[in-house]
Amino acid sequence: MAILVTGGAGYIGSHTVLALLQRGDDVVVLDNLSNASQESIRRVEKLAGKSAVFVEGDVLDRACLRDLFAAHQIDAVIHFAALKAVGESTRKPLEYYENNVSGTVVLLEEMRAANVWNFIFSSSATVYGEHAPVPYVETTQIGGTTSPYGTSKLMIEWVLRDFAKAEPQFNTIALRYFNPVGAHESGEIGEDPSGIPNNLLPYIAQVAIGRLPQLGVFGGDYPTPDGTCQRDYIHVMDLAEGHLKALDHLAKNTGYTAYNLGAGKGYSVLEMIKAFEKASGKTIPFEIKPRRAGDLAAFWADASLADRELDWRVSRGIDEMMRDTWNWQSKNPNGFN
Ligand code: NAD
Ligand code: WQD
Repeated sequence: MAILVTGGAGYIGSHTVLALLQRGDDVVVLDNLSNASQESIRRVEKLAGKSAVFVEGDVLDRACLRDLFAAHQIDAVIHFAALKAVGESTRKPLEYYENNVSGTVVLLEEMRAANVWNFIFSSSATVYGEHAPVPYVETTQIGGTTSPYGTSKLMIEWVLRDFAKAEPQFNTIALRYFNPVGAHESGEIGEDPSGIPNNLLPYIAQVAIGRLPQLGVFGGDYPTPDGTCQRDYIHVMDLAEGHLKALDHLAKNTGYTAYNLGAGKGYSVLEMIKAFEKASGKTIPFEIKPRRAGDLAAFWADASLADRELDWRVSRGIDEMMRDTWNWQSKNPNGFN
């Protein structure tokens, strides 16, 4: 199979490209490198012992997509390309709707023109919004999102649902990721945020390596066992493997279906700090700070639908998440640079 992976040079994309190459698929990566380095793809190719085609370009660029679909016989598209910083999205909503929503619409139009009908979309647990009961289950109505980023993911799911209704040959799966962390076990690829990290684990890892002095824990007074927020952390390689299972499932003519990809278990911020300290042997200085706007107290996945229908479940736990994060960070103190 030949798979187009948009955003394939990024964090989750690069791990998925590796898994695809290793199972023998041909891969074309389209990435505008707005939040990634091509070095990730070079390392993926080295690990896989096999090349991917790399196209530097934008999903909003129709001519680029047309050329790409004309030059390569694509069987399915995995669409990671997006802007993903929640806080930034509240300051730049138009950029987020343009890049994420319009970018997806342009991509779908060019897929239709090229007669490519299989599509996997990177959705997010954030589409459940602030009122959904925990654990999140796919039958809960989505909505009530708390940021333009979250709303962009929600809007794209609606676009996919409506397009699948209108075009019976269109097969699409929205994968709702919970909190992806960790790195490939080689330590050659991993998460390399630009600037100060927004997400918990890259922040902890940069404190451990000495790039940041201490962690601020956002809120110690939540209604959770230790007062800090609980999230469902999922190892990025488990997540990558979920895409392979979803690709297999698309062959069964799915219409539009959404699946949670999570571990089904919540860990608090303090538990994450402790687990990282155990794996790395480093002490993480931290201070309890005020709550961060928009954070929910606790959520995790009901991942039983993916288990039943995709034959997918996580196989790596918190120890592997921490070990692999630290392995990547300590081998690459400055990321890909
Ligand atoms: P990332 O920023 O590392 O990867 C996204 C990639 O897309 C980057 O390489 C970037 O250069 C590229 N890109 C952005 N806009 C583009 C455009 N218009 N054209 C071409 N390339 C473009 O992010 P990630 O963490 O790997 O996330 C991948 C996907 O998963 C995103 O859609 C994100 O919203 C979604 N997601 C991420 C998380 C998370 O916590 N990391 C959770 C849920 C969902
Ligand atoms: C995890 C926990 C913070 C940083 C975000 C998006 C979500 C999805 C995944 C894309 C929270 C706490 C964090 C820090 C802290 N992305 N924290 N100090 O907010 O659950 O999810 O990324 O779809 O849409 O919202 O992840 O890693 O930012 O935070 O105490 O410096 O760590 O308050 O409880 P979050 P996160």
